[in-house]
Amino acid sequence: MTAATTAAISTTAATATATAPTPAELRSAELERHLVQDPGRFRVLTGDRPTGPLHLGHYFGTLNNRVRLQNLGVDVFVLIADYQVLTDRDTAERLGEYTDGLLLDYLALGIDPARSTVFNHSAVPALNQLLLPFLSLVSVAELGRNPTVKDEIAHSRQSAVSGLMYTYPVHQAADILFCKGNVVPVGQDQLPHLELTRTVARRFNERYGNVFPEPDALLSAAPLLLGTDGTKMSKSRANSVPLGATPDETARLIKGATTDADRHITYDPDARPGVSSLVLLAALCLERDPHEVAAEIGTGGAAALKRTVTDAVNSHLAPVRARRAEYAADLTYVRSVLRAGNERANAVAEATLEEVREAMGTIR
Ligand code: TRP
Repeated sequence: MTAATTAAISTTAATATATAPTPAELRSAELERHLVQDPGRFRVLTGDRPTGPLHLGHYFGTLNNRVRLQNLGVDVFVLIADYQVLTDRDTAERLGEYTDGLLLDYLALGIDPARSTVFNHSAVPALNQLLLPFLSLVSVAELGRNPTVKDEIAHSRQSAVSGLMYTYPVHQAADILFCKGNVVPVGQDQLPHLELTRTVARRFNERYGNVFPEPDALLSAAPLLLGTDGTKMSKSRANSVPLGATPDETARLIKGATTDADRHITYDPDARPGVSSLVLLAALCLERDPHEVAAEIGTGGAAALKRTVTDAVNSHLAPVRARRAEYAADLTYVRSVLRAGNERANAVAEATLEEVREAMGTIR
């Protein structure tokens, strides 16, 4: 990410929260300094649910940051969290298609299989086995208190809340701890899960001996991009611009975005969320200040704004989309990347499970 983009993001963050940094933000800033100074000490674990195509919100929020960490020399593990898809729905639809899509996005953005490990839950049995001892380390009351789980239950499309909904944060602890990940890049909504991971690691170590690190959160300065319907951008809500969309699809999606009746375009996220989110998107793509971008459009109204955004997105993503199309023409290669990542993840998971067995005193 360039300095201009970072500046644009911090401008937004400052507008959104004009308060003193929280302890989590301070710890995260210190961690960022260590990552740059001594990347070899860190293993990052991060992941996505394969519930739809990755979009511009992911791109500016997390995907760029993964590639940046990889290029710094940090060991990066990227999980396609296929078992986690079943938390808020009864069946996992189009899993294969979405998994291919995530792989294409990762490769197109610069995730390098020679340096980073891409894998999925369902292919790594030893990871999943860690769930059993980990579940014994948390109380039902703790599981019920998790604010992110509560929010997901409120928005769930399931007829009844499943056991996986309450326990997937413990599974997520296994995602992070199986490879002894010590850094997890997260948005605010994932902080309760990371806290639980730290708790699981600490309790395991206290009870059985030192096996796991207590991982730290690397908070992303994710810009607040809204979906085209003015609500939270989400890969399963069809309100976002997928990275892999064509220029025409991009134009159509942006054309349909919610704006307001004031023809004078300004950047004011609190008073004008729809318009400002579009301005911000253009600013991020153009690596410019959002206020300047808004001032230039002036009284051109929503139509001029949307033209600016569409052109900015399409030209910014052109090289990524060109690489994505090349990989899409060679799915055999793309899937071999996942297979190789799974092999590596399995070796790591089995070694950790062996340590767990030894610590717990089980015999085979
Ligand atoms: N919960 C994350 C999401 O919904 C995906 C995920 C699964 C994850 N396991 C993880 C993220 C471990 C970070 C670490 O996007």
